[in-house]
Amino acid sequence: MFDLKGKTALVTGSSQGIGKEIAKALTDCGAKVFAHGSRRSEKLDAAAEYIGAAGIVTADLTSADAADSLYAQTGGVDILILNASIQYKRPWDGFSSAEVDTQLDCNLKSTYYMMKTYAPYMKEKGWGRIVTIGSVNQYNNHPELLLYGATKAAQMKLVQGVAKSLAPFGITVNNIAPGAILTPRNDEALADKEFYDKVVASIPAGYVGDPKDMNGAALLLCSDEGKYITGSEIIADGGMHL
Ligand SMILES: NC(=O)c1ccc[n+]([C@@H]2O[C@H](COP(=O)([O-])OP(=O)(O)OC[C@H]3O[C@@H](n4cnc5c(N)ncnc54)[C@H](OP(=O)(O)O)[C@@H]3O)[C@@H](O)[C@H]2O)c1
Repeated sequence: MFDLKGKTALVTGSSQGIGKEIAKALTDCGAKVFAHGSRRSEKLDAAAEYIGAAGIVTADLTSADAADSLYAQTGGVDILILNASIQYKRPWDGFSSAEVDTQLDCNLKSTYYMMKTYAPYMKEKGWGRIVTIGSVNQYNNHPELLLYGATKAAQMKLVQGVAKSLAPFGITVNNIAPGAILTPRNDEALADKEFYDKVVASIPAGYVGDPKDMNGAALLLCSDEGKYITGSEIIADGGMHL
């Protein structure tokens, strides 16, 4: 099960957190994985070593030429995990225009450009897997994460439409929507006991997720075992969306 030998993969935002664990899980199943961060750093190098990555690539996904730049570094890949995102917490009317643009560019527009750039190689091969990482905030209305949630909900719409177009070519396109997961993004906030208890109280399973808790969903969607699943979503949130 979940044999990915002979497959190549790119996991965006695999310098830490969920992306790093998914990249390691893909490597452990035999894939050759490119680790990615917005820029070269010791953190990215250490993550690449942990992953056992076949290569390290960098691009700032808020930049319009990021998809072309990444493709020039990786060439075609069989598995594309679009995991990197930017999240600002503000009251709904408190975002600067730069913050609006940055979130839309990284979380939504880059997903479109990355799919568009990487799909032709998959079409030619007659096999491909694209997995976006969404969020429970596609469903919940966190008062300070509305814009972030909107980018993730729009990304899901993109997943469904592109899945329909790419299904005849043996390519599946799906989304994983994590709930509250302990990653560098929120470890400082979750270190506050009052906040932590409030978050846990909102999760029916009764605990904050580990980044590795996304691996099962990712492996299913990236392997032959998941070939008949497309335009779908796995919400991996301990029931937080309910
Ligand atoms: N953690 C959660 O509770 C949670 C919940 C729901 C959904 N999610 C989603 O799950 C995914 C991973 O979350 P995470 O918590 O693991 O994230 P994280 O710890 O904040 O890591 C973000 C990753 O994205 C990369 N990144 C950030 N801005 C970038 C940019 N402009 N260009 C290129 N790469 C960029 C970072 O690379 P560098 O550091 O090298 O820039 C890093 O590898 C995200 O899509 C997030 O929205 C997370």
